[in-house]
Amino acid sequence: MLHKFAPDLSHDAIYAQGNELATVMAHDKDEEGNRIYTHSKDKTIHVADLANPVLVTDRHKINNITDYITRETVHTLFDSPFITIDYDDVQMDFEKFKYPGVWSPSIDTLFFCRALKNGNFKDYSSMIEVGSGPWFIAKYIGEKNPNLEKIVLNDINKNAEIYFHDHYTDPRFSFHLWDAKQYMEAQKFDIIACNPPYIPRPRSIDDNPYEWLSLPIYLIQNIDKILSDNGKLFLNLSSLSFPIMDAFLENPDIIVKKLDSIEVPLKVFNVLNNPEWMDYLIKEKWLKKELHDGHEYRQTLNIYEIQKKIIKTQ
Ligand SMILES: C[S@@+](CC[C@H](N)C(=O)[O-])C[C@H]1O[C@@H](n2cnc3c(N)ncnc32)[C@H](O)[C@@H]1O
Repeated sequence: MLHKFAPDLSHDAIYAQGNELATVMAHDKDEEGNRIYTHSKDKTIHVADLANPVLVTDRHKINNITDYITRETVHTLFDSPFITIDYDDVQMDFEKFKYPGVWSPSIDTLFFCRALKNGNFKDYSSMIEVGSGPWFIAKYIGEKNPNLEKIVLNDINKNAEIYFHDHYTDPRFSFHLWDAKQYMEAQKFDIIACNPPYIPRPRSIDDNPYEWLSLPIYLIQNIDKILSDNGKLFLNLSSLSFPIMDAFLENPDIIVKKLDSIEVPLKVFNVLNNPEWMDYLIKEKWLKKELHDGHEYRQTLNIYEIQKKIIKTQ
């Protein structure tokens, strides 16, 4: 299936594509009447539009499609392991479950791209996507900014590296399997983009919730070392992390600008199905149970642009 998201995220257009035309959309005969099973991937048929998407897979919205055939067709397309995400004419193909721990771009990834859509990166030459997963953010910035010469992807998940080697074609990109906190020590970038793990977790490894937020905290605290003087760090943070992260953002050595904000359902299953984690977020981080539009829990995501405060000496 193909999702074509509007650049302002006002709708998600759902298409059947390739072989789905023969297996789902009844295009199963050629002009001579012979049965066909396959179609090229660039053949698509529009099936439905979902307005104001707040998730890439929003079962509540799909269930609300009134026409029976359209609704069941959309459900069937969502069952497909093959997904193509198109945002603002940048496309990425993904096979679900093939790369454990790597997820196809989610709504926060696309929201991140929306926040950077009108960014001026003409004077920059290097960027890194920290915690890149399937690197949609880097792909988006890289395709929109051909002037970027070096685009580095970094993740701790070996399967993200395998995904990279299976898919990359642009020689400006390279992948580095490493903990960013070590990998970034000896280099500076013009653009640092990071959609990090952003939900604080109780008793994570060394029994403190900062552990789970260690990546964004590292990036803010080490900005002087890892960002070029005129460079920009872009960071996505959840309202669930604000009680912790606000203290790090209120740093006199940085300039912080909130670029964009969106409220989305909290639909991270390893959080929802972990009673201790949920209890912690409800008691300590203001998570509230309020059912509306098919979802009980919500978070606000903010994209920040962070720069070094350069004090010019004469
Ligand atoms: C929320 S996902 C975002 C993935 C991708 N950037 C996107 O927006 O779709 C966070 C990613 O950070 C990676 N990650 C977590 N800690 C890391 C670390 N210390 N160094 C590098 N990558 C890390 C995870 O493996 C995961 O792929």
